[in-house]
Amino acid sequence: MSKNFKGIILAGGFGTRLKPLTNTISKQLMPVYDKPMIYYPLSTLMLTGIKDILIITTSKDESLFKNLLGNGERLGISISYKVQNYPNGIAEAFLIAEDFIKESNISLILGDNLFAGSDLINILKYAKNNLSGAHIFASIVNNPKSYGVVKFDKFRKIVDIIEKPLEAPSKYAVTGIYFFDSSVIKKTKLLKPSNRNELEITDLLKLYLKEDKLDFSILGRGITWLDTGTFESLHDASSFVKTIENRQGLKLGCPEEIAWRNRWINNSQLKAFSSENLKSGYGEYLLSLLDEKIF
Ligand code: TTP
Repeated sequence: MSKNFKGIILAGGFGTRLKPLTNTISKQLMPVYDKPMIYYPLSTLMLTGIKDILIITTSKDESLFKNLLGNGERLGISISYKVQNYPNGIAEAFLIAEDFIKESNISLILGDNLFAGSDLINILKYAKNNLSGAHIFASIVNNPKSYGVVKFDKFRKIVDIIEKPLEAPSKYAVTGIYFFDSSVIKKTKLLKPSNRNELEITDLLKLYLKEDKLDFSILGRGITWLDTGTFESLHDASSFVKTIENRQGLKLGCPEEIAWRNRWINNSQLKAFSSENLKSGYGEYLLSLLDEKIF
């Protein structure tokens, strides 16, 4: 039997690059076109088949996330919450989530990351079902210096990951979704805060690399990876979602649809949710799924 797999959405942080928008509301609740930002990473975890999810937020925003998503029951999943008091780094998530992770494998996704593309789910599911150690997902970007960048040897094996390098060793950035086995807690406890005083996810990945237990997948051209931490990138993400949704008439990052397609909720649960959201068109979209004819 494959090991239990849980998910964490990391939705803390200050969102300083989006001030004054983030003076009162969490970045991960900002609209990305027609949905709150957190719907997208939540959808990615759900598409990967993950049903037990922990959301880590700031204490200020916790109640807002609870109002939005509750305990997950209406999506046929379980959602729990923990607080990160200060943004001490992405890897701190595993210390905060120790009681939640226990012996499970775990996927961490950043609350401001958006993934889309038809092959994405197969890539994520394959990595989930074959996890041994840690697995990262690298994507080609135009500005690798802004990210953690993967250095490969001539056999395409990872030899290093460099956080915001001055000279990028490749164009492959480490995206904001990661899979780890349960030794992640023990390893995180070995980390020391970096120069910017954070527990760095890159340092954690290097511990796996040292044990030769860091695997990777490449997210190729057909797969879009966007982060939404600046005005520019937030606007781009909204435009991207709008363009795809209006062209295809299909929604990206719609957790109710995914829950229904995964058969985690039934037709009447979908209808009940739809009726609360009819006026915006979101509910109408969900209702239309019930009459779907593929061919
Ligand atoms: P960042 O974009 O690096 O940080 P931020 O969201 O606080 O924004 P800014 O740089 O504008 O101040 O974080 C990426 C994601 O990880 C985002 O979803 C917030 C989350 N995060 C935490 O929840 N806790 C942390 O300690 C860190 C470093 C990030």
